[in-house]
Amino acid sequence: MSDRTMRSLSVDQLQIAPSILAADFRCLGDSVTAIAKGGADVIHIDIMDGHFVPNLSMGPAIVKAIRPLTSLPFDVHLMLSSPSRYVAAFVDAGADHITIHVESEGDLAATLREIHDAGCTAGITLRPGTPAISLAPYLPLVEMVLVMTVEPGFGGQSFMAAQLAKVREIKAMIQAVGRPIHLEVDGGIGAGNAGSVIAAGANVLVAGSSVYNAKGGAAAGISAIRAAVKS
Ligand code: DX5
Ligand code: ZN
Repeated sequence: MSDRTMRSLSVDQLQIAPSILAADFRCLGDSVTAIAKGGADVIHIDIMDGHFVPNLSMGPAIVKAIRPLTSLPFDVHLMLSSPSRYVAAFVDAGADHITIHVESEGDLAATLREIHDAGCTAGITLRPGTPAISLAPYLPLVEMVLVMTVEPGFGGQSFMAAQLAKVREIKAMIQAVGRPIHLEVDGGIGAGNAGSVIAAGANVLVAGSSVYNAKGGAAAGISAIRAAVKS
């Protein structure tokens, strides 16, 4: 099977990762196909345990069900208190990349190693209130850093522009590591702020509501973000 991890994508190019948390769950399959055929580079899948964040979303069975619909990378964002308990289940379900929160429990370095041992790329992420320096021990262990520009747990929230300074700070930390690491930004992203997020150093944009609620449908939402970044 060809490489579907984040290593298959350039850190120097814009990658658009629609979040299926904003999909129409009455017809999730069609919603996944709409972004896969509508210009997405990555499928962002938000997993919530109702403990690390005050919401529940979806589990491995949903990931397994939609896996056959597209060969695009599945970028699984684990908003879980104990991510190590679920890595194997999401790998078996078809995850290609798994991101864990620096605030979650357990030996995070060991969890990142477990993700790699399973053949996936690994990522680390942080809440808006967590300082960038908290990621330092993990940068050598990941292929992507995810910066949250909303409090994790819900789609449809407003973009926290104050996080752009953290995006710039983490971009500098990544450059100091000296190997390709994607910088992904997640939360309230749309055509109106995509340009400033890319200018701050990101290359992967997660967008849920702005894509699925776009007039003209998901493909139009994705195109609007691409056009905004080009302009
Ligand atoms: C929030 C999730 C985000 C969210 C993005 O906890 O991690 O991925 O679904 O959705 P929008 O783009 O609607 O903010
Ligand atoms: Zn997410």
